[in-house]
Amino acid sequence: MERRNFIKNCCGIALAAPFVGLLDSCTSIYYASATGSGGKLTIKKSDFIYIKKDKTKTRDYVFVKEDDKNFPICLYKQSCNNYIASLMFCTHQGCETALQGDRFVCPCHGAEFSNTGKVLQGPADKDLKTFKTTTDNEYIYIHLV
Ligand code: FES
Repeated sequence: MERRNFIKNCCGIALAAPFVGLLDSCTSIYYASATGSGGKLTIKKSDFIYIKKDKTKTRDYVFVKEDDKNFPICLYKQSCNNYIASLMFCTHQGCETALQGDRFVCPCHGAEFSNTGKVLQGPADKDLKTFKTTTDNEYIYIHLV
């Protein structure tokens, strides 16, 4: 390989390498507006759909935050009528977890949870709090009580 091509190839790899990890850890966060009454939050199913470059795409995750609560709820779409609602409150010492790829990671001490809220790695030893969800044709309901 010529020296010029070697440098070009190696620099391309060196420049791209940091972004591989970054892309893996970056998950776009979308907050839906929810309406609530009687211990139930209502979110439109259409909040999982967006348009990019004239193509319809779907999100796997949508976040919801009640005005008077400190921690958001992450809604994970398993299928059209099956959603997991996890409170982003780390069960170790109460930091807010963050979605990284398909896991919730706590920035405080490194606990990790699956996208269904199950503990994958300590120091947390309890799963994230999850809420029952139900659906109809148009909406998803998160039952808070
Ligand atoms: Fe989350 Fe400690 S508060 S790991």
